[in-house]
Amino acid sequence: MSKLFTPIKLRGETIKNRVFVSPMCQYSADKFDGHPHAWHMVHLGSRAVGGAGLVMFEATSVTPEGRISPWDLGIWSDSHIESFRPIAEFISTQGSVPAIQLAHAGRKASHKRPWDYGNVLAEEDGGWKVVGPSPLPYDKGEPTPIELSKEDIRELVKSFRLAAERSVESKIKVIELHFAHGYLGCEFLSPLSNQRTDMYGGSFENRTRFPLEVVDAVRDAMPESMPLFVRISSTEYVEDGWNVEDSISFAKKLKDHGVDLIDCSSGGNSPAQKIELSPGYQVPFAQRIRMEADIPTGAVGLITNAEQAEQILVEGKADVVLLARELLRNPYWPLYAEKELGSNAVWASQYARAA
Ligand SMILES: Cc1cc2nc3c(=O)[nH]c(=O)nc-3n(C[C@H](O)[C@H](O)[C@H](O)COP(=O)(O)O)c2cc1C
Repeated sequence: MSKLFTPIKLRGETIKNRVFVSPMCQYSADKFDGHPHAWHMVHLGSRAVGGAGLVMFEATSVTPEGRISPWDLGIWSDSHIESFRPIAEFISTQGSVPAIQLAHAGRKASHKRPWDYGNVLAEEDGGWKVVGPSPLPYDKGEPTPIELSKEDIRELVKSFRLAAERSVESKIKVIELHFAHGYLGCEFLSPLSNQRTDMYGGSFENRTRFPLEVVDAVRDAMPESMPLFVRISSTEYVEDGWNVEDSISFAKKLKDHGVDLIDCSSGGNSPAQKIELSPGYQVPFAQRIRMEADIPTGAVGLITNAEQAEQILVEGKADVVLLARELLRNPYWPLYAEKELGSNAVWASQYARAA
């Protein structure tokens, strides 16, 4: 049996294989109020029918101001539970595990959809004031965030906790915290975007304080048996910025705080980043964090074929793989990959005649 299609157990959750659907913003929420609807049912449901072991809802904001765009998903009110639950339940009926990525976009909030050129959404067009650890814009032409007060930070930690409680109510089985790609958690971690002089800035210990408070609040709101993942930008590819050594130290702390898997992405916090793209270019981060912090990791980024994914796991570089664009191209990728790796995939009964 291939490693890719060997189940993995994290806490009380057994996931049937190690192909996970990476979170992908759809910018398609209903009526600008964060609710998932028919698009998300079809999008996520198809990937569950396609055989992925875990299917993750895109970055879902814990407050309205934490959305990248007005079209993002959100889970800031109890009314969202009824919209998430049927989709989570459908994913479960297909034998996949429904997960959610809880997020706050920080200084990168209030933008247009990518297909509307993704620029800053002005307040007169429905945009809003953005927040961050320090009043430093992401780039020229980007808004200067309002520096969060300690009271604001306490409120945000509470928002993450409530979002976790609602996720549990929605029958979601795994929570991932989005601390990558230059969004709020990542902004606190990086010495480039966090130049605070209080207990939330300066030393490594202080910069990791807010993300760890979020982890503690969320972990506390989750049943003991439910796994918690954290996505990080393993490096920001900028001198004097957050780097892989920092990620290894942080991963050790996350493990101590009850995190079960580190989803190892990179970049997104500085326009000065220089990334050399190649197949599996982020896998070495997953490998080092797995080895040196002794915690399960997920590899993501330009993983597109079955043999490549299998080798990553066989060589002990990661415990699972997360695929994004390849699964947009082909939601049935896992069914074909399993066959290619030598076993018979179980297709949905309705599709069995095509297997
Ligand atoms: C349409 C799209 C939306 C994305 N949205 C998110 C997101 O909500 N959260 C996140 O952490 N990453 C997001 N990403 C990044 C992917 O999860 C993934 O890390 C990245 O695309 C690299 O994987 P790939 O080469 O398999 O596409 C998005 C990527 C795409 C293509």
